[in-house]
Amino acid sequence: MTPSKEVLAKIDAAIAEYPHPESALLAILHLIQQDQGYLSEEAQVWAAEKLSVPVAHVAGVVTFYTMFRLTPPGRHHLQVCKTLSCRLRGCEEILQHLDKKHGIKEGQVTPDGRFSLVRVECLGSCGTAPMMQVNDDFHENLTLERVDALLAGMK
Ligand code: FES
Repeated sequence: MTPSKEVLAKIDAAIAEYPHPESALLAILHLIQQDQGYLSEEAQVWAAEKLSVPVAHVAGVVTFYTMFRLTPPGRHHLQVCKTLSCRLRGCEEILQHLDKKHGIKEGQVTPDGRFSLVRVECLGSCGTAPMMQVNDDFHENLTLERVDALLAGMK
């Protein structure tokens, strides 16, 4: 994996912000994921070599944080919060609805590549539960009707 010149410049700029290059790992992983959609094994090895840290360390980080994806996502990556406020306010019903009405199963990408779905820990929007993140955007105070309207607008 070789990042484009533009991404490489952003990566080098991120590294320059820290006194120790390895401290830039999270920032670098975000930049690679933004560029490529997910963090392949090749990308993890590249990041490890770039920062002179063990590949096992990078693998530990990318598997710990749910914001990192290890496989290519759908065009619209749905992250439904499963933590307490969202659970009390109906996240399980939303997940069942996504599966039954829209054929979107947790942990999978739809055959047309349109959607992928994961359950994640608290996204910090507990006061507007239930919520889900779609790519970079938060959608809050969800109802099943609002979920339907949201998905209908996503090609
Ligand atoms: S519990 Fe869902 S955003 Fe915090």
